[in-house]
Amino acid sequence: MNILIIGSGGREHTLAWKLKQSALCDQLFIAPGNAGTALVGSNVPLAATDFEGLTAFCLANKIDMLVVGPEDPLVKGIYDYFKANPLTAAIHVIGPSKEASKLEGSKAYAKAFMDRHQIPTAAYREFDTTNFNEGVNYIKSHSLPIVLKADGLAAGKGVIICASHDEALVEFEQMIQQSKFGESSKRVVIEQFLEGIELSMFVLTDGKNYVLLPEAKDYKRIGTGDKGLNTGGMGAVSPVPFVDDAFMQKVVKTIIEPTVKGLLDEKLDYKGIVFVGLINVKGEPMVIEYNCRLGDPETEVIIPRIENDLVEIFLATAQQRLHEITIKTSPMAAVTVVAVSGGYPNEYVTGKEILGLDEVALSGTIVFHSGTKQAGTKVLTNGGRVLAVTSTGTTISEAVTQSNQVLEKIDFDGIYFRDDIGYEFK
Ligand code: AMP
Ligand code: GLY
Repeated sequence: MNILIIGSGGREHTLAWKLKQSALCDQLFIAPGNAGTALVGSNVPLAATDFEGLTAFCLANKIDMLVVGPEDPLVKGIYDYFKANPLTAAIHVIGPSKEASKLEGSKAYAKAFMDRHQIPTAAYREFDTTNFNEGVNYIKSHSLPIVLKADGLAAGKGVIICASHDEALVEFEQMIQQSKFGESSKRVVIEQFLEGIELSMFVLTDGKNYVLLPEAKDYKRIGTGDKGLNTGGMGAVSPVPFVDDAFMQKVVKTIIEPTVKGLLDEKLDYKGIVFVGLINVKGEPMVIEYNCRLGDPETEVIIPRIENDLVEIFLATAQQRLHEITIKTSPMAAVTVVAVSGGYPNEYVTGKEILGLDEVALSGTIVFHSGTKQAGTKVLTNGGRVLAVTSTGTTISEAVTQSNQVLEKIDFDGIYFRDDIGYEFK
């Protein structure tokens, strides 16, 4: 089977690494990929949202399966685009339809879906220019802190947690009246603040059946001890030690089963990942958000723990045979530590040479590339998040130590990583 992965981050490198291990995988392509994906497959210089270019490539290279990494092409309807064309309709697209991708693409849509299916989540109201004044009054009488969410995709920046009513009123005005996040914030969801530990759950569904992939916790803040600015993710661990059987059963019963049943009842075409961002509020799981794809850097810890053949699982997804699959998960702990460019998540420079990659090749640790590019024989930095260094161990502590040691041997100008990933679980 010929497979094309769409995307260019650590998530896609991890998917490429895993898919390539399958006997079912013949040719593997990644569009556009990075210097890491080029080690496992062939990079294709096409953007993730260049549907026309991707179609032509799939036809010319007899692609059988398209695995979509990021949300952008999904929300823009890549699934429907391929299904609508008789020449590409038979290609297995791993990812939901445009309508179903609204679970990530529109916060208001996701909240209404959860309401319809009685899935526990924060209380909310949605506002736009037509009921702006009502929104102002709603904020004034809202308990603190207040969570404001731009309805649409905003590159991870669309959620603002306001400590005071005045701050919330200013943000609300900027989002709706001044389009702070463009079209995305013309509609705003205002919701109750939930307090607790967050975790990421990954459900692979074929629209009827589902399997649970390992859970993970990511570390979003730039600084040690979870201080400082929010980032795309500085590291992740799997499993998450506080997730015991009792908690998991609650998650399955109150969130996962109603979510999958909701997709089926509403006839949403969904053959892909439902990433449920959860918060554990005093032992009760509540949904913070849905995403329609795998998380990054969570993928870098959950995929290495899956012992099944990933091509087989994806094929079963596309053919609505997921009831035939049992996920086998390694009992080992996996940890990834992300090395970022100096200055990230604010401004940073790219094009710095990465040294030491060859030296760590035999360490047993996997160095996934997040933002890199090949330039002749050199590998250069090409993003804020540069590498995701994954180790496994019998404990989280052991795996973190291993990743940190490997990162000590890697260098590029301005390299920074958090050495305390998984600190609460040591
Ligand atoms: P999202 O873009 O929906 O992932 O939200 C970004 C982050 O904002 C989440 O990972 C949470 O840390 C935080 N967040 C979102 N909604 C809430 C909420 N209702 N209560 C507390 N924190 C929240
Ligand atoms: N790590 C969170 C995300 O991928 O959205």
